[in-house]
Amino acid sequence: MLNIILYRPEIPPNTGNIIRLCANTGAQLHLVKPYGFEIDDKRLRRAGLDYHEFANVKQYDSLDEVVSALIGARIFSISTRGTTSYCSPVFQDGDAFLFGQETKGLPPEWLTAQAPERILRLPMLADSRSMNLSNAASVILYEAWRQLDFIGGR
Ligand SMILES: C[S@@+](CC[C@H](N)C(=O)[O-])C[C@H]1O[C@@H](n2cnc3c(N)ncnc32)[C@H](O)[C@@H]1O
Repeated sequence: MLNIILYRPEIPPNTGNIIRLCANTGAQLHLVKPYGFEIDDKRLRRAGLDYHEFANVKQYDSLDEVVSALIGARIFSISTRGTTSYCSPVFQDGDAFLFGQETKGLPPEWLTAQAPERILRLPMLADSRSMNLSNAASVILYEAWRQLDFIGGR
């Protein structure tokens, strides 16, 4: 199983889209509090989510807590500040992808502590600032799942 971690997500439709993305691909979603919304926000539900899709989401009070829960898994930080292309790694079952806040990205102190090959960037045209969070999550997750031959998919 692949893992998606959202650090302090702020915008309900982004998280709603990612809940649906994870439900469609079999990835486990981990959310790190606080959020910029209530978890039962109707704007999340507008993404067309079913009860069981919500039920599968795991919630944590801190980044340390989710890191402990995923002990043994490789955690790739996904950041515009990365220098490694998301196409470079050979992904494996159990890998986790950590995404930052819509307004601020990931904490600088977290990024400084990561090896450069564990901070992945999605190429963009010069002068582009960033992609939408849920679009970035889709691109990374589908690349990792593709490398795993879309295990469990059809
Ligand atoms: C809207 S962006 C955050 C923008 C923030 N100002 C920054 O520079 O990190 C939200 C999240 O989407 C992911 N993201 C968006 N575009 C990306 C890119 N081109 N490469 C890597 N991650 C990206 C990152 O996880 C980022 O923290």
